[in-house]
Amino acid sequence: MSTPTSITVSYITHETWAELTAADQELLKAAHAAALRAYAPYSNFLVGAALRTTEGALVTGNNQENASFPAGICAERTALHAAMSLDPKAVIGTIAVVVPSVTGTRPVSPCGICRQALLEQEVRQGRKPMRVLMGIPNGPVHELQRAGDLLPLSFDASFLNS
Ligand code: THU
Repeated sequence: MSTPTSITVSYITHETWAELTAADQELLKAAHAAALRAYAPYSNFLVGAALRTTEGALVTGNNQENASFPAGICAERTALHAAMSLDPKAVIGTIAVVVPSVTGTRPVSPCGICRQALLEQEVRQGRKPMRVLMGIPNGPVHELQRAGDLLPLSFDASFLNS
């Protein structure tokens, strides 16, 4: 028997940053500021991320490139790994991503490797949801309720033990 299955991913589009809470706006602003400190001489594509733990710590990151291109790291993982290296038990409530150069209506969303890393973090924090905000400066924000939604049919540690 063949059984079709569909997976639905839901997100909210906010037309402007002003529609978000002050805490979320602060995170988006911190991500924007972090992007301006990125090291991206090869792509010139500056990306910033900022996350808040449930204990209230705010940690930022940006992309760090390398002349050997694959050695670079994205903004999301810079922020994520920085936060978890500071507090291995941290629970991340929200992560925001901003690319200052992008305009229009389609905020940049995390690459595949970052999606895998964000999913791992959600598993690590007991599947407590990590919201993801993707923002365009002076433009719309996409809000996902959990990072795992970025990666349907994902691979995680449960397969290793099966
Ligand atoms: N990049 C990020 O930092 N985050 C993303 O979500 C997408 C891509 C970086 C990697 C590289 O330094 C540059 O953007 C161009 O791909």
